[in-house]
Amino acid sequence: MPVTHLDSLDKIVSLSKSRGFIFQSSEVYGGLSAVYDYGPLGVELKRNIQSAWWKAMTQVHDNIVGVDAAIFMHPKVWEASGHVEGFNDPMIDDKQSKKRYRADMLIEQHILKLRDKGDDEKADELQQQLNTTGTRKGLCEDLYDIIMTEEIRSPDSGAFDWTEVRQFNLMFKTHYGAVTKDEDDVIYLRPETAQGIFVNYKNVLDTARVQVPFGIAQIGKAFRNEVVARQFVFRMREFEQMEMQYFVEPGTDEEEYDKWLQARLNWHKSMGIRPDNLRIAPHPKDKLAHYARAAADIQYKYPIGWQEVEGIHNRSDFDLSQHQEYSGKKMEYFDQKLQKRYIPYVVETSVGLDRTVLMVLCDAYREEEVDGDSRTVLKLHPKLAPTKAGIFPLIKKEPLQELARKIETDLKEEYTVLYDESGSIGKRYRRQDEAGTPFCVTVDFDGLDDNTVTIRYRDDMKQDRVSADKITDVIRDEIKSWSVK
Ligand code: GAP
Repeated sequence: MPVTHLDSLDKIVSLSKSRGFIFQSSEVYGGLSAVYDYGPLGVELKRNIQSAWWKAMTQVHDNIVGVDAAIFMHPKVWEASGHVEGFNDPMIDDKQSKKRYRADMLIEQHILKLRDKGDDEKADELQQQLNTTGTRKGLCEDLYDIIMTEEIRSPDSGAFDWTEVRQFNLMFKTHYGAVTKDEDDVIYLRPETAQGIFVNYKNVLDTARVQVPFGIAQIGKAFRNEVVARQFVFRMREFEQMEMQYFVEPGTDEEEYDKWLQARLNWHKSMGIRPDNLRIAPHPKDKLAHYARAAADIQYKYPIGWQEVEGIHNRSDFDLSQHQEYSGKKMEYFDQKLQKRYIPYVVETSVGLDRTVLMVLCDAYREEEVDGDSRTVLKLHPKLAPTKAGIFPLIKKEPLQELARKIETDLKEEYTVLYDESGSIGKRYRRQDEAGTPFCVTVDFDGLDDNTVTIRYRDDMKQDRVSADKITDVIRDEIKSWSVK
């Protein structure tokens, strides 16, 4: 059975729209770039991923609790965190097309082109140069020099007519309250959910009876005014993060960091992602963010190349110390066992929900040839599938419809299911294959006497005849024992 894998995001974008997973925001007005809406299937998939994450990060641990902090936060938070000063991307404008680019990404694309041409030596040399570009202060000048020396042209207009490279702060600013509009009223849309956890660290310590080591988890929206955002839900201006900050005794941070890195990689595998498409990419020491003692990406092999889906960071005591300094409130913890005071170190796990949705869709997508015909199928892990079962009367006739409706009512107690009686049975199967529905239950005349139905499995299209009363159990067992093929 030949299988086609993806070489671009196009098929996922088109399937997402046609099946109702993901739509462009405000499409009727021509769309809003880098912002997307989730449709009926997308919202179910997203919620299933959220629940799986929440369970893995809170429910199964007795020392990790959740919070749901507001998007608006005191502006001082972002001064303390370093975002006002340093949350920038280097941008450059093509004076002819007036299009804006990220200077570092232009160079990366140029390196890829060199590799395509077989000039690996030059590509390696430039990569090395890019890796050692200066500190934040010298960064713009260094990137500009590379673009000039290499005569890198604008990808859209082909022109070599660039502005200087400038730093561009990615935080969205707005004004708070209705009265005046001056700098004193400036408020930001949070660019990460993590700070909502740090500023609640004391509240959680005082109320949740937790002791170091303990974690705080949160799922929520984040906003970044990305310079370049042209890769569907991979890079958005409004997106969702699932973050967990694990507060530990200094000195145990390296061990905890290694532990969480492995735990998080395993979580991605448990979502049904093929292990060959996942890898850990540690950040080189000289490329670490100002707050990090160590960091690694968990990367997925998207059709656009290996890219970060999750970041694991050893943030030391940077954030709590900063908030202690800026707020004047003590962030120390008194360790009863050790009889000493310290500011805990933090190991952070931070995964993008939308990037996870995209990874799950890309990994599940298959085009298969079946008896000379082709089918598109999403082989999603059944626990993530938006619809768990399609329920069909073989034809639009009683008493088939009545039994099918009864099965629908029973299954609805536990699962999201879909009753469908329109079109040929083959077409109904194909529709559910494209939606990633792992099971289809068909009620036919043969089963009326002994109360049996057929259950058809999405992945291998095999069918079993089972008792109508046992379907919930069969589906539950199949979900538990499913493995990626
Ligand atoms: N608190 C740490 C933090 O925010 P990050 O590496 O900037 O770290 C974490 O972001 C994750 O958030 C990324 O691994 C990615 O999955 C997701 N993410 C970041 N920017 C994004 C964007 N513009 N669109 C979609 N997801 C994004």
